[in-house]
Amino acid sequence: MTEKILSRRFDLKDSHTLKVYEENGGYIALRKALKEMSPAQILDEVKRSNLRGRGGAGFPAGMKWSFLPKDTDKPVYLCVNADESEPGTFKDRFIMERDPHLLIEGIIITCYTIRSSQAFIYIRGEYLSQARLLEQAIQDAYAAKYLGKNILGSGFDLDLILYIGAGAYICGEETAMLESLEGKKGYPRLKPPFPAVIGLYNCPTIINNVETIANVPAIVERGGDWYAGLGPPKNGGTRLFAVSGHVKRPGCYEHPLGYPLKKLLYEDAGGILDDLPLKAVVPGGSSVPVLKADEIDINLDFDSVQAAGSMLGSAAIIVMHERTCMVKATERIINFYKEESCGQCSPCREGTGWLLKIIQRILRGEGVMEDIDLLYDVSEGILGNTICPLGDAVAMPVMSYVTKFRDEFEYFIAHKKSKIETMVS
Ligand SMILES: Cc1cc2nc3c(=O)[nH]c(=O)nc-3n(C[C@H](O)[C@H](O)[C@H](O)COP(=O)(O)O)c2cc1C
Repeated sequence: MTEKILSRRFDLKDSHTLKVYEENGGYIALRKALKEMSPAQILDEVKRSNLRGRGGAGFPAGMKWSFLPKDTDKPVYLCVNADESEPGTFKDRFIMERDPHLLIEGIIITCYTIRSSQAFIYIRGEYLSQARLLEQAIQDAYAAKYLGKNILGSGFDLDLILYIGAGAYICGEETAMLESLEGKKGYPRLKPPFPAVIGLYNCPTIINNVETIANVPAIVERGGDWYAGLGPPKNGGTRLFAVSGHVKRPGCYEHPLGYPLKKLLYEDAGGILDDLPLKAVVPGGSSVPVLKADEIDINLDFDSVQAAGSMLGSAAIIVMHERTCMVKATERIINFYKEESCGQCSPCREGTGWLLKIIQRILRGEGVMEDIDLLYDVSEGILGNTICPLGDAVAMPVMSYVTKFRDEFEYFIAHKKSKIETMVS
């Protein structure tokens, strides 16, 4: 039976309230942190925990925090990334809806550790009901003296501001998020300098995903070694796997990193819809390379998924059964990234438009066989050639769909229709 860290209160009645949170172990870790531990001790526990960023890249949280300058006289900021716009991803929403105080407690402990007295949560514009719940939780935390001046008599002060974005995927990219928070257009910044050195308002800034921060109370309470021990080496803790698409029980399932993908699909998610054969699985949100059905005998940790040629990313698992047309699926992906490209870098701005024209030409029955390699070549021209990885986020999946399902593209071009529509269900 998996130990639940993030989802243990999800099914309790009124789990979003301060009362239920406190009745079920809430804010105990904060008391321990403020009364018994120094910032350096907490940083050490987080480093030992092997907690890696849950926003996509999997960067070790403790290492990121230690990049902050030691002797700065500028304010230090924490920006929590609640933009959650990667298609297929809905895990942070569960935390904010069902256990907002877990996130707030994680924020307070993190800020105490990095010596920040000002934190922000940047939430996507479409998450209005979640934003309302969070705002209420923040107000309740202020009223209970978990936020504000002299928190629990410790002398530590913290203010927390909830900032609602305008629904742009690019503002989930950490430096675009900083620009947006500063009131500007969400254009990603060149790195270096990294935000830990020059971030929000040119001050040292830590940016972490909601789920990353929500793990901090458990690490403080039970120790970094315990947390690290839940997953395989260098992959500490559990993840909220958001499973969607052609499964019988889509949902958000918490398991330790390293949990077998097949088990997640066939046991937790109840197997493939209509008991049809599986065709493909996207293991980390729409921006990662797709896996074919015969490639899914893998464990869900950062390193194993990478070894299988994809990425764990945001741990959004999108399942496609036999009756999915991969040419149409590719068009859906390209369309999204074309819409969401901020337009700052020409390879991404122009390349996504070219990809869309080519794939739509194929779908109209006007494609030529050379278009398949053209899709690949245009993607290759985008890959690694942009300021932020949004370009990679379209290039990588397109290259994988075209390579792994080339026969479907060839069929579509030759017959001017999808191979799938001709299949008998
Ligand atoms: C185009 C784009 C969109 C992103 N969207 C999100 C997002 O919605 N939420 C998120 O946490 N990280 C997102 N990221 C990753 C962030 O840039 C950053 O790596 C992350 O917030 C760091 O937190 P972590 O270390 O806790 O994962 C995105 C990255 C890119 C390139």
